[in-house]
Amino acid sequence: MGSRTAGAGVIAAALSLALPAAHAADAITDAYARGAIVYERCAACHALQTDRTGPRHCGLIGRRAGSVPGFDYSPAMRNSGLVWTEANLDRFLKAPMDVVPGTAMGYDGIKNDAERHDLIVFLRLAGRSEQCSTTKTAPSLRNQAPGRTPY
Ligand code: HEC
Repeated sequence: MGSRTAGAGVIAAALSLALPAAHAADAITDAYARGAIVYERCAACHALQTDRTGPRHCGLIGRRAGSVPGFDYSPAMRNSGLVWTEANLDRFLKAPMDVVPGTAMGYDGIKNDAERHDLIVFLRLAGRSEQCSTTKTAPSLRNQAPGRTPY
């Protein structure tokens, strides 16, 4: 056993400790990337920072349903009593019109569980991103190019 072998052993031990964490981070990054692609289906009506046909998604997780100031929600959404926890989002995004009957969101939902999971990872992380923290201090979005999808 020379010192080189011992050194390699130490490195191998260090790697085996570091790898699970690295894999977990990779898994989240991958889910986020896949979720961003799923979000393209929402982008016809939604953006992170701006209200469009649907309300903005910055800060969505933890927000009360129907609570973006100035957005013209349906009474069904405003009175749904929901808070957008990840579990409630998962139910809603699977079958919007079943979970909030009468909602103005004319979208059939995402039936694939893995796609919904990735989409919710995307909404959680993107909703806390740098561009979303700018939204809070600059709600007028004067510098936002019209029609740009900000993600
Ligand atoms: C055809 C347009 C359209 C599409 C596509 C669409 N939405 Fe919506 N969305 C709306 C509208 C309109 C509302 C407001 C509904 C209401 O007031 O009943 C809404 C509301 C929501 C809300 C509630 C927000 C709040 O502030 O309470 C969430 C969450 C949401 N949409 C997520 C999504 C996601 C995620 C996708 C993509 C999978 C998506 N939507 C696709 C139009 C759309």
